[in-house]
Amino acid sequence: MRRDSRFMVFLYAGMALVPLFLFLYLVAVIAYAPAEGLMLGLAAAWMIIFGTFGSVEIYKHGRLPAEQMPLIPGQTMAKDLESERGKRPKGAEQVTVKIKRFNPDTKKFDEESYDVYEDRLATVLDTLLKIKSQHDNTLSMRYSCRMGICGSCGMVANGKPVLACETNLLSELDENKSITVEPMQGHPLLKDLVTDFDSFFEKHESVEPHLYRNDKAEQYSAEKAYRQTRKQVNEFLPYSYCIMCGLCMDACPVVNSNTEFVGPQALSQVYRYYKDSRDQGSKRRLLDADNLHGAWGCEFSGSCSKACPKGVDPASAIQLLKASIMADFGEQL
Ligand code: SF4
Ligand code: FES
Repeated sequence: MRRDSRFMVFLYAGMALVPLFLFLYLVAVIAYAPAEGLMLGLAAAWMIIFGTFGSVEIYKHGRLPAEQMPLIPGQTMAKDLESERGKRPKGAEQVTVKIKRFNPDTKKFDEESYDVYEDRLATVLDTLLKIKSQHDNTLSMRYSCRMGICGSCGMVANGKPVLACETNLLSELDENKSITVEPMQGHPLLKDLVTDFDSFFEKHESVEPHLYRNDKAEQYSAEKAYRQTRKQVNEFLPYSYCIMCGLCMDACPVVNSNTEFVGPQALSQVYRYYKDSRDQGSKRRLLDADNLHGAWGCEFSGSCSKACPKGVDPASAIQLLKASIMADFGEQL
């Protein structure tokens, strides 16, 4: 039975119970409302058919295959899975995955090493999930969408900040066919590969990443749309692709040495709203960014733009912001 059929088995098993309740309800309804009773009867028949299929599936397989059985903490590995673990699937390569995990007792990072077989389609996140399910279920990582949208799976692979779900495992291997995965250093560590984003979101929030309008009442009960030309949209569009993954902050040498620096993510958002023709707070935004913890804190290493998986280019946004501050300052002289 394949992995995707696991969901169906649970679905069928759940459905098998429904007809019993429906039948009892049906008997009660038929006595008072025959038309509704007939419709419910059809629904019950439909569910009985699915329920039967589900029961047959479970009967045929006895139980879920070992690799689909969830492990709970302290539970030992199912015997079938132990034997599955060493097998090499067709077309897969053997890879050594080293994971750096913080040990609170020694206050140091321990490196744990796992040998796994992976094919050319596996991402770093796929492999970590495999390690979690087959080797060590205490391993923690954060992820959600698995498709480069939510920004929650940021980590460092072979020294490079990456989104684990968007990074192909085999293409990141070093010459020894191994990969070292560790948590991002630019954010406080919570556990294993999970970091704390509180201060990151605070910095994002501090630049007020929303439209300013002078007329607040109009903003909340607008009678017409704020129309923009394609040219006006293109001015800020590239900077609006930020998914708040925090990789630019991890890559930035200034963020890592000065915790007050608001950082490339927030500053790219300042520029994004500054360039938005609907925004009426440009002066205020420039004033807020005109200090050493803002735009002038940037030393233009460019590593933020290199790390960004969405092509936001925060480094250029910050330089353009500096140029706008200077131009604005020039106007005032
Ligand atoms: S600018 Fe790029 S790297 Fe930085 S948080 Fe946004 S998407 Fe992530
Ligand atoms: S899991 Fe959502 S971006 Fe990787």
